[in-house]
Amino acid sequence: MDTGFTVAQLRSATADAVRAPSLHNTQPWRFRLRDGGIELSLDPARRLPATDPSGWGARISCGAALFNLRLALAVAGTPATVRLRPYPTEPDVLARLVPATPRPATPTDRSLYAAVPRRFSNRAPFWPDPVPADVRWRLGEAARAEQCWLELVIGTSAVNAFAAVARSAHRVLERDPDYRRERAAWIRREPAPDGVPAAAGGPQSEPQDLLPMRGFGDHSRAPGRDFEPEPLVAVLGSAGNTAADQVLAGQALQRVLLTATDAGLSVSLLSQPIEVPGAREALRLSLGRFGTPQMVMRVGYGLPGVATPRRSVDEVLDLPVVSA
Ligand SMILES: Cc1cc2nc3c(=O)[nH]c(=O)nc-3n(C[C@H](O)[C@H](O)[C@H](O)COP(=O)(O)O)c2cc1C
Repeated sequence: MDTGFTVAQLRSATADAVRAPSLHNTQPWRFRLRDGGIELSLDPARRLPATDPSGWGARISCGAALFNLRLALAVAGTPATVRLRPYPTEPDVLARLVPATPRPATPTDRSLYAAVPRRFSNRAPFWPDPVPADVRWRLGEAARAEQCWLELVIGTSAVNAFAAVARSAHRVLERDPDYRRERAAWIRREPAPDGVPAAAGGPQSEPQDLLPMRGFGDHSRAPGRDFEPEPLVAVLGSAGNTAADQVLAGQALQRVLLTATDAGLSVSLLSQPIEVPGAREALRLSLGRFGTPQMVMRVGYGLPGVATPRRSVDEVLDLPVVSA
């Protein structure tokens, strides 16, 4: 009996995995087949030393790709059992997936999978319409289904307090010339398979803005088109902060993002308060939570947009060389 995944299954699921979000769209992942299992590794050549010295962002990105990989396999009727960081001596191998008992995909699997190509980071202002309570609840359930938590920052004073922490983290980061150089190097003004297209980077910030948006864009906004006055801010966190916890958080992030997309919502990510240790601790204390904040999201109703480019499947696969 054939008990492993095939190259065809690897290729097909990888095409969905690469649609995941990643820090500066670096796409820091590699995929291969080993002993019938699909393995996802962090690509050390695509880490951002100034922005992400610990590798947190690369592991969150790979976790998000892992969620898409699992989902694609499940929807194809070949779900996987996942082991995180299976080899102590190979820390960059973040996950190994082996076939589980085949079962039909659930309706939730199908609707989340349909959202994979539609999801994108929407950095433009959202409409002021509130997100209904049942949708908020679904977002929290999505995080819990992946062993993480999602805390919504509710009320003007809580949102203002969060914004002050985020702005101070932003200022700390902006003082670092290496951080600024790295970001500039990943902004794309010409078509490219990676990096953040300037057109997707959102409008330039203005003094009245509450939340600090990472400056990828260079276009000014339409007059009067300010950001929503009271954004819905959601903080995703995990129980611990090991490398495996960060991969778990990446999976939870992608489940929340796809759940939001499925519900017609737009999301942009704000990780400055996660990247500055003092801000991350202030955020954790303000939420009164055990565990570790891993990502912040701005959630709302936005204008439609387009998905950003990705490298091809061939560029991220490590296949054994077959001799003629
Ligand atoms: C760990 C991580 C941190 C991120 N931080 C930010 C951020 O602070 N600001 C921002 O605008 N986008 C942030 N992003 C979003 C990425 O820039 C985005 O996913 C990438 O450019 C690909 O675009 P897409 O999400 O539209 O597919 C982050 C993504 C990840 C995975």
